[in-house]
Amino acid sequence: MCGIIGYTGNREAGSILADALELLEYRGYDSAGIALSKKDGVQVIKCAGRVKELRKRMQEAKTDAVCGMGHTRWATHGGVSDVNAHPHRFGAVTVIHNGIIENYQELTEKYGLNGKLVSQTDSEVVAAMLSHYYQNDPYAAIRKTVLKLKGTFALAVMFDDIPGKIFAIRNVSPIVAAKIDGGAVFSSDVAALSAYTDRYFVLPEFHIACFGKEGIELYDLSGEAAEPEYMTVDWDTSRSDKGGYPFFMEKEIMEQPAVIRETIQTYLKDGVPDFSEGQIPDSVFRECKRICVIACGTAMHAGLVGKSLIQSMIGIHVDVVMASEFMYNDPVVDPDTLVLAISQSGETIDTLEALKFAKKCGATCISVVNVKGSSIAVNSKYVIYTCAGPEIAVASTKAYTTQLAVLYLLTARMAMARNLWDGARLEGYISELVRVPMVVEEVLERKDEIHHLAGSMLGAKDVFMIGRGLDYSILLEGSLKLKEVSYIHSEAYASGELKHGTIALITRETPVLAVVTQEKLKSKELSNIKEVQSRGAKVILLIKGEDLPKEDYSFEQIFKLPRMEDEFMVIPTSVVLQLLAYYVSADKGLDVDKPRNLAKVVTVE
Ligand code: G6P
Repeated sequence: MCGIIGYTGNREAGSILADALELLEYRGYDSAGIALSKKDGVQVIKCAGRVKELRKRMQEAKTDAVCGMGHTRWATHGGVSDVNAHPHRFGAVTVIHNGIIENYQELTEKYGLNGKLVSQTDSEVVAAMLSHYYQNDPYAAIRKTVLKLKGTFALAVMFDDIPGKIFAIRNVSPIVAAKIDGGAVFSSDVAALSAYTDRYFVLPEFHIACFGKEGIELYDLSGEAAEPEYMTVDWDTSRSDKGGYPFFMEKEIMEQPAVIRETIQTYLKDGVPDFSEGQIPDSVFRECKRICVIACGTAMHAGLVGKSLIQSMIGIHVDVVMASEFMYNDPVVDPDTLVLAISQSGETIDTLEALKFAKKCGATCISVVNVKGSSIAVNSKYVIYTCAGPEIAVASTKAYTTQLAVLYLLTARMAMARNLWDGARLEGYISELVRVPMVVEEVLERKDEIHHLAGSMLGAKDVFMIGRGLDYSILLEGSLKLKEVSYIHSEAYASGELKHGTIALITRETPVLAVVTQEKLKSKELSNIKEVQSRGAKVILLIKGEDLPKEDYSFEQIFKLPRMEDEFMVIPTSVVLQLLAYYVSADKGLDVDKPRNLAKVVTVE
């Protein structure tokens, strides 16, 4: 969490930093600040609140430097206040930090900093330590400091007496960087670099980079010069702006037909799923005895769909484990286990740590990530990239559906590797998968109808969502979407489980959204709907095609989903749920893209 940007070049740095911070706000938006390197020292401007606030403060100050760094914060240590905003200054040192310094209290004691620090942050301790060790050699000061830190960090540092230069180092937390005409840029995320370059490199861990007018110097901690390994951004950079939509979330929902199509086509060769470009041999799919998916949030919900697909079609046992719980539950992971780590950002620390643990246990690890060169990608034996492009809204939409697309492809490749399906079955499956983007287009064309459905939830305090099997898995995601962007309390229930307690909460004021897309579960799902209707619930029904119940049900609203084979109903239905959450949030006048308390990239455990 927290976004970092740095710039040295020929242009006025202040506005460049503010623009980039706005792009990085999805990583945290509690406070923002910049530090500008000037001939006579470093100027810091910072405040609690959004970058909008910071811009106001910048207008009041003179910001005419050509070298500077900026930070947008998601508070961990120390509340949301001006003083806790980054950058932090101590002596002649200015620091911005993303991550957590776990031993900051111990260091505060050891370096006699009690009473000398002005903020409550762990980050200010780093500035103080750098100041303690700085004696005209920035590299020595950085080296001595970071070797004493426990935790994760992406640090950018300025020294008052070294104008025009910014130093950076990282452990786990990301920094990407690039040389540009007349200088250099670096950031937590490649999206903030794309205005300047499409070539960038991931700063290797525990390497010190020095950014200046001449470009970038890179050294390992022993002082040996290192060569950056440049990569090319293959994202369409226009995807980093709102493209005329009021919110990124709407734009990203609308992009889904294109990005799902791109993801499917990237991994189809001669009409069959093919992961040979990622060098994944079929033996990985053939020989594993069980699969374990590790992921967080929306990515974990994608994993639940993958579990249903793989268990029902391949017959291998699949566990889906919240990455944050993985290590603490004595997971049964061994060389016969295939671990799938799913992550949009590729930086979620819980997923990364779980992945490292699984590797130690001898498991083969494939990651499904959206961001090239991210930590989870780098730490996995094999990587499958989703082609969602930059996802800016905090609530994940297109990353989820492209993860699902990959899981459909993986299932088919597994079936091929194990000789489970005949040609006709494979062909039928792939032709239905290829149809998904078109069906999603059909759903999106009916957005006004979905907007109307959202009206039934607008005034609700609680919303329940019920379904069975795959319908339940997608409702877990639909419910998360609704609560995170609309602040309406919402729960997804496997509809058969409802009567074991939760049904006590159903009243006339409670909208219940029921999803019925699976033929084999339909009659049971309809009975469960009857149960809540008998208790007065207003039911909004999402049902496949014209399969309306013949009996006398009275629904608050009905949405007939376009028809696909049952197992493929997941993506079109999820898109309806995304739009529902979106419209409820937008109609409530909320900041859809930046819900309170959240951050998109969670790099603290
Ligand atoms: C955060 C985001 C979620 C996301 C989760 C996992 O909580 O707000 O949208 O699903 O992290 O992120 P990842 O980048 O690993 O998919």
